[in-house]
Amino acid sequence: MNLPIRNYRTTDLPKLYEICLRTGDSGKDATHIYKDPMLLGSFYAAPYAVLHPELTFILAENDVPIGYIIGTDNSEKFFTRSEEIWFPELRKKYPMPDVNDTSADARIIRLIHKGHVPKPELLSYPAHLHIDILPEGQGKGMGKKLIETFSNKLREMNVPALHLEVGKRNVNAIMFYEKTGFHKIIEYEYSIAYGIILLN
Ligand SMILES: CC(C)(COP(=O)(O)OP(=O)(O)OC[C@H]1O[C@@H](n2cnc3c(N)ncnc32)[C@H](O)[C@@H]1OP(=O)(O)O)[C@@H](O)C(=O)NCCC(=O)NCCS
Repeated sequence: MNLPIRNYRTTDLPKLYEICLRTGDSGKDATHIYKDPMLLGSFYAAPYAVLHPELTFILAENDVPIGYIIGTDNSEKFFTRSEEIWFPELRKKYPMPDVNDTSADARIIRLIHKGHVPKPELLSYPAHLHIDILPEGQGKGMGKKLIETFSNKLREMNVPALHLEVGKRNVNAIMFYEKTGFHKIIEYEYSIAYGIILLN
């Protein structure tokens, strides 16, 4: 079954936070893991929709978002812009946790204080993405279509290459990326960076 992919509207933002949380435990529902349901999306979803609405594509069912692909064409510029526009307010809202706080919330708050720091070894793949689809939209070929939509938009913008990072526990997503043309760039302790060349 083909579900529609459409452009992002600002009224979609609450759903993006929800989808991020409901797929945030290595692809599974993370609702039970976080006390604050907004935290995960504050780092992994919302800043992309706010800073890059043109690169935010929505998978919809009855016009309601059930999935998204989000990202940036330039990870270095995204870092700078998110430091200026996105993180200052959030850092006031979520002060740095105590060093002994090992909760999942504290881990994300520490990321909020660190920001979206680009990794030097991935800079030759300047764009990056995140993709999340709720279970009802999975396994229908729509993830592949979202990747194609996002990649085509980047090609129009003359972006040479794209990367993403996936946790090693998320075996389904790893299989999906390997099936959709991504190659392994580098393996870290807990994650793998995959890439794709967009322009030759
Ligand atoms: C991972 C995800 C984006 C994949 O999207 P999807 O719509 O389910 O995948 P598709 O149906 O488009 O699959 C595309 C191809 O990948 C293959 N594939 C997908 N998942 C697979 C799996 N677990 N094992 C083997 N192949 C798989 C499909 O068979 C299909 O192959 P084909 O083109 O030869 O038919 C989606 O399942 C998802 O959002 N999961 C939860 C959130 C998540 O893990 N996000 C990634 C975080 S890094």
